[in-house]
Amino acid sequence: MRNKVIAGNWKMNKVLSEADQFADSVTASLPNDDNAEAIVCAPFPFLPSLVEKAKGSDLKIGAQNMHFEESGAFTGEVSPVMLKDLGVTHVVIGHSERREHFAETDETVNQKVHAAFNHDLTPIVCVGETLEQREANETMNHIENQVQKGLQGLSDEQVSSTIIAYEPIWAIGTGRTASSEEANEVCTQIRNIVQDITSENVAEKVVIQYGGSVKPANIDELLSQSDIDGALVGGASLEPASFLQLVEAGT
Ligand code: G3H
Repeated sequence: MRNKVIAGNWKMNKVLSEADQFADSVTASLPNDDNAEAIVCAPFPFLPSLVEKAKGSDLKIGAQNMHFEESGAFTGEVSPVMLKDLGVTHVVIGHSERREHFAETDETVNQKVHAAFNHDLTPIVCVGETLEQREANETMNHIENQVQKGLQGLSDEQVSSTIIAYEPIWAIGTGRTASSEEANEVCTQIRNIVQDITSENVAEKVVIQYGGSVKPANIDELLSQSDIDGALVGGASLEPASFLQLVEAGT
C-alpha cells in the first residue's frame, strides 16, 4: 500500500516569523501516522529555520526549486549540495510556474531530477496540461511526453522513489479543481506510463499526487481515488489549521 503524501507549496509567500509560527503550530499537532507524510516546500530563506524546528517531528521540509549543478558561476541559484547540507529532504521540480516564467524545460527538469537523486533528495516532479491542451484533447500526449522526458535515464529504484505531481495548469490557484474522476484518469495514465518505462512493480510503488485548488473540502474525495496518493497544495497549505486538515485526511 502506498503512503498518502501531502506537500504544501508555499510559493513566494510569508516572512520568516510567519514561517516559524507555522512550523511551531504544525509540529505540535501533526497526526502520528506512518502512512501519511507531511512536507512543506518553502522559500529558500526559511529553510534553515524550518529544518531546525521540524527536528524530532514527522514534518519534512522541501525546497521549491534548485539548480542541477553542485556549485559554480550561477548567480542567484541554489544547488542540491546546499539543500542537502541544510537537512532538506524534498525538492519540487518543474512546477508549471517555473516552466512558464523561468524557462524550465523537460530537459532541465530531467537534469534536476538526476541531481536530486545524486544528492539523496526526493524530487516532486510536476506535470500538467494547459486549458488549451485539454480542450484540444492533447492532455494524455502532453503528460506522456513530460513524464517520459522528466524521468529519462533513472534507475527503476529511483523512479519508484520519485513523487509525481499531476497539476492541470487551469486548476492552479483558480478555485477550479479537476473533478476527482478527471484527476484520477490522468493519474492512472501516469502510472501506466511509469509501468511502460519501468515495470508493474515500480508503477505500483510510485506516489502520484494531484495539485490544483486542493482544500479541506475536496481532499477526501480526491484521496479516495484509486491512483491519487496525495496532494501538492498551494493556497490551502499556508495556514496551519488548513494544512493539518489536509494531512489528517491522509491518515
Ligand atoms: O504547487 C501547488 C499548485 O500550484 C496548486 O496551487 O493549491 O493554490 O491551486 P493551489
